[in-house]
Amino acid sequence: MSAKLWGGRFTGKTDELMDAFNASIHFDKRLYEADILGSKAYAKALAKRGIITSEEQASLVDGLEKVRLEWQTNTFVIQPGDEDIHTANERRLGEFVGSVAGKLHTGRSRNDQVATDFRIWVREESKKILTHVKQLVGVAVERAEREIDVLMPGYTHLQRAQPIRWSHWLLSYAWSWQADAQRLEQIIDRINVLPLGSGALAGNPFNIDREFLANELGFKGVMQNSLYGVSDRDFVAELLFWASLTMVHISRFSEDLIIYSSGEFGFVTLADAYSTGSSLMPQKKNPDSCELLRGKSGRVFGQLSGFLMTYKGIPSTYNKDLQEDKEPLFDAVDTLSGSLQITAGVLSTLTIHPENMKKNLSIDMLATDVAEYLVRKGVPFRETHHVAGAAVRTAEERNTTMANLSLSDFQQLHAAFDSDITEIWDFEKSIENRSSLGGTSKATVLEQVHKLKQWLSEK
Ligand code: ARG
Repeated sequence: MSAKLWGGRFTGKTDELMDAFNASIHFDKRLYEADILGSKAYAKALAKRGIITSEEQASLVDGLEKVRLEWQTNTFVIQPGDEDIHTANERRLGEFVGSVAGKLHTGRSRNDQVATDFRIWVREESKKILTHVKQLVGVAVERAEREIDVLMPGYTHLQRAQPIRWSHWLLSYAWSWQADAQRLEQIIDRINVLPLGSGALAGNPFNIDREFLANELGFKGVMQNSLYGVSDRDFVAELLFWASLTMVHISRFSEDLIIYSSGEFGFVTLADAYSTGSSLMPQKKNPDSCELLRGKSGRVFGQLSGFLMTYKGIPSTYNKDLQEDKEPLFDAVDTLSGSLQITAGVLSTLTIHPENMKKNLSIDMLATDVAEYLVRKGVPFRETHHVAGAAVRTAEERNTTMANLSLSDFQQLHAAFDSDITEIWDFEKSIENRSSLGGTSKATVLEQVHKLKQWLSEK
């Protein structure tokens, strides 16, 4: 007889290479704790229905605890026949408690077992990732409040556009990350429904109390169809997309910092802790942290598309293709966990250079304000836009800035110009004018700080 758990109907041996190809223990051992939790709950549910005695239940729970301890202390020895975490734990349980171990799997299949274990693991890891996202928002909010008076050029098309507050730029990312956190919370809710009790596919024949199991394992509900229970991996796809989108935000943020830390911009300097040098050029200080964050995003997108390719062609219900759901997610979780913490580290330690930001504010960035000046004097905006454009052109032709044009220069462009036009050449004033909700004025940026702080303090 084969030593394999499923070996009863087999006479021939599996090919050695096939054994290795089939095995997932080298990666799914990360699920050990979730697997033990699921088994303990299942032992209790079996006892509740009188399938095993309470002594047998106690013995199983005790043995499972011993197995858990071995994993925890790194003393679990994986044997050649240990195909995956589920077979490994059951084999070891048998060595601790004897033949009663063989009762644990009554009515259960590795199909509902693995779906349950994975959901438990993903749920717990997602909660950890959520705290990293919140910490990152916290770092951005803290800086935004502290550095509220720093002004910088805002860009569109990477061309100087309008003056803004540095804090307004910072918070633009904080809002993206807040949305990421909210999305993750919603995904956690969808992960948190129980497949256990679905059996291999058709359901459990021992009237196992699935509500009880859900309660034991911290699930909010029970999956209502056993076929769906064992085959659904939408939560994996959702989380991989979530990870991808969050990496988009991190990557774009990193790209901004890479540009802002260049010699040409000089707006920020990354801390030594998050930079590296060149082996050849002694003067170099490179923003490697940000480049890695930008680069690692590609890796996460790859995991998402790779998994979707695997997932799309699988017929009902469990097929071994589904074993390929774990490595992409493990990798994405590791990448996200590292990236979020590094991003927070980069942001909390970088130095800003407000004087360089200010130096790059140029009078032409106030052209919109010139147009708005005329609007306030009753001229239609479409007309004022042309007039302000002409003022920019005149200044350019004279090789100077609009601030150096005389009142009569302006009045030649439009009769509504008056001596108060000189008040326009003030970057802070331009910024303070943007005081409608969501704008870059001090009050409206501080309002954002307040709202994000309030959100961070919830729960
Ligand atoms: N290692 C498998 C996986 O990760 C466990 C489920 C195996 N089930 C089966 N019917 N072969 O998907």
